[in-house]
Amino acid sequence: MATDQELPEGTVQNILDQESLKWVFVGGKGGVGKTTCSSILSILLSRVRSSVLIISTDPAHNLSDAFQQRFTKTPTLVNGFTNLYAMEVDPTVENEDLPNVEEMDSFISDLTNAIPGIDEAMSFSEMLKLVQTMDYSVIVFDTAPTGHTLRLLQFPSTLEKGLAKMMSLKNKFGGVLSQMSRIFGVDDRFYEDAILGKIEGMKEVIEQVNKQFKDPDMTTFVCVCIPEFLSLYETERLVQELTKFEIDTHNIIINQVLFDEEAVESKLLKARMRMQQKYLDQFYMLYDDFHITKLPLLPQEVCGVEALKSFSRNFLTPYQPSIKKGTVEELEQRVSILQEQLKDAEEELGRLREGK
Ligand SMILES: Nc1ncnc2c1ncn2[C@@H]1O[C@H](COP(=O)(O)OP(=O)(O)O)[C@@H](O)[C@H]1O
Ligand SMILES: [Mg+2]
Repeated sequence: MATDQELPEGTVQNILDQESLKWVFVGGKGGVGKTTCSSILSILLSRVRSSVLIISTDPAHNLSDAFQQRFTKTPTLVNGFTNLYAMEVDPTVENEDLPNVEEMDSFISDLTNAIPGIDEAMSFSEMLKLVQTMDYSVIVFDTAPTGHTLRLLQFPSTLEKGLAKMMSLKNKFGGVLSQMSRIFGVDDRFYEDAILGKIEGMKEVIEQVNKQFKDPDMTTFVCVCIPEFLSLYETERLVQELTKFEIDTHNIIINQVLFDEEAVESKLLKARMRMQQKYLDQFYMLYDDFHITKLPLLPQEVCGVEALKSFSRNFLTPYQPSIKKGTVEELEQRVSILQEQLKDAEEELGRLREGK
């Protein structure tokens, strides 16, 4: 195994230093801390970049919770910042210029039956088109749990297949096409050309973006996880999929780590720490060429800009428990905690005996 000195630095400094980065994806299992980490990354980036946009594509939006501010599908300046914007988009939600809901439902169901994933591909490409014209220096994605994100990244090929299928089946799916023509508001006679043109245009945007996604100078994917078996397993799957899609990834954030500190006496906590250590060792072994950032599990949630800023310290300097195991200071603290506990127990025992 590599020695400490050979390991890449355990922070996200490399991301802040990479000036050519345009897209930063943050992904992982639900509840591991994606929103917290992407919010903090966007705050840190806002200090070194002219403008930053953070986009949540997770239908279970919680940028609003993290920043304690309401966000919508248009970029909104985050309170307390001059160059950090946030927006929440739902990749499954229909376009605004579409007609009534009933028509939309049948349109979407017809179309997704014909070309699975095209509805999402369409709104994702619309969103990318919008974002691209806005000229942000860097865009951070707080993505939905793993499977979903990888589907988004596959959209160019989904669209390509969809387009080919449309061409070959356009007679068979005349109904779908005529519904689409109403939706896009084009004349019936020209609907086929118009719609195919629209999809072609969409494909262009998404192809261009996809080229950027595959360029490690412009795009990177940050994997967030926790030191547990399932999360390790899922991270490995994610890293393999990203490699398959040729998307760069070299940062892992391990969140909710229990550090051996504060003279922990709880057997449960000690057992959990041992378990975590086993998986931490495995992370370091499997990803010795990654920047691995470890974040401590806090007693409270990370809510609001102040909490995010304060927690962001651990992204730049590896977290150090305040007290080192085995030192005089630590042993003194443990002895005094045990003395307190002994005193409490003796008092309670005394009370119980008297009560008999
Ligand atoms: N290291 C941590 N210590 C304590 N609470 C945390 C930590 N990281 C995240 N949280 C809290 O856990 C919850 C889930 O985190 P979140 O970032 O929303 O996860 P995800 O976006 O992956 O679902 C939030 O309430 C967040 O404040
Ligand atoms: Mg989230």
